[in-house]
Amino acid sequence: MDVEKVFHMTGGIGSTSYAKNSSLQKKGSDRVKHIIIETVKELYQASTPESLGIADLGCSCGPNTLSTIRDIFEAIQNTSQEIHRPASELRFYLNDLPTNDFNSIFRALPDFLRSLWHDTERGSSPSIFMGAYPGSFYGRLFPNNSLHFVHSSYSLHWLSRVPPELYDEEGKSINKGCISICESSPEEAARAYYKQFGEDFWKFLRSRSEEVVVGGRMVLIFLGRRGAEHVDRGNSFFWEILSRSFAVLVSKMLDKEIENPDWEGNECSGHP
Ligand SMILES: C[S@@+](CC[C@H](N)C(=O)[O-])C[C@H]1O[C@@H](n2cnc3c(N)ncnc32)[C@H](O)[C@@H]1O
Repeated sequence: MDVEKVFHMTGGIGSTSYAKNSSLQKKGSDRVKHIIIETVKELYQASTPESLGIADLGCSCGPNTLSTIRDIFEAIQNTSQEIHRPASELRFYLNDLPTNDFNSIFRALPDFLRSLWHDTERGSSPSIFMGAYPGSFYGRLFPNNSLHFVHSSYSLHWLSRVPPELYDEEGKSINKGCISICESSPEEAARAYYKQFGEDFWKFLRSRSEEVVVGGRMVLIFLGRRGAEHVDRGNSFFWEILSRSFAVLVSKMLDKEIENPDWEGNECSGHP
């Protein structure tokens, strides 16, 4: 599967949309909000550039994207008042994979900006310029030295591909019955995921090293494991539910195939 071409959260604002199902990510991000605000303040006090480039990598669509923008906007606004300087202009670059529902974000912008201006003193507010930058954050996205602050939340644990070492010489999975590192996974499966993460993260850092100015900062929030144990149940609960749902889907497809050998499975195509 070409992850870059097909992967996306469910768009829109319906009941199954990411916008309506992202409170878990919001909770995680809220726990480190003070770090985001402190980092932006420190950065701004240290250099006070006229124009600040800020990127949200893997922004998706929904309230979390705009909530981070609000936090950063307020941090700059408050700091500029504290140091008695006019606020710098803010350039927000919203990045996600190309099939992300960027339109939902753009549609929400007029109301969002109105609420931002409403809550702040006009005149002392930073000007905001916003744009979408579709593409994979495992490669270059922005011009050299254009970013002062990079934020990424709940996105960097998405790998660029299924680790090739998960398959044996005959192309069969060594991680039988699992779609993640589960209790029955062999250690080689954990090593395969670890290696892929290492390669991806290195590409991420190398790309950002060209794009971020000297003295720029990053706050990266992503899932990890508490211990060295290759099977760590901390975050595996959701993956197990997903894994079982896939197994049920596949068995239903197999039943249909047995009932009707000519059936081509079109009813089950598309995103789960
Ligand atoms: C769970 S969402 C997190 C969205 C948002 N940051 C939040 O905290 O709610 C993960 C996002 O990362 C994006 N993503 C995954 N791999 C990516 C890549 N290589 N480049 C850019 N975005 C990626 C996905 O498309 C998805 O929208």
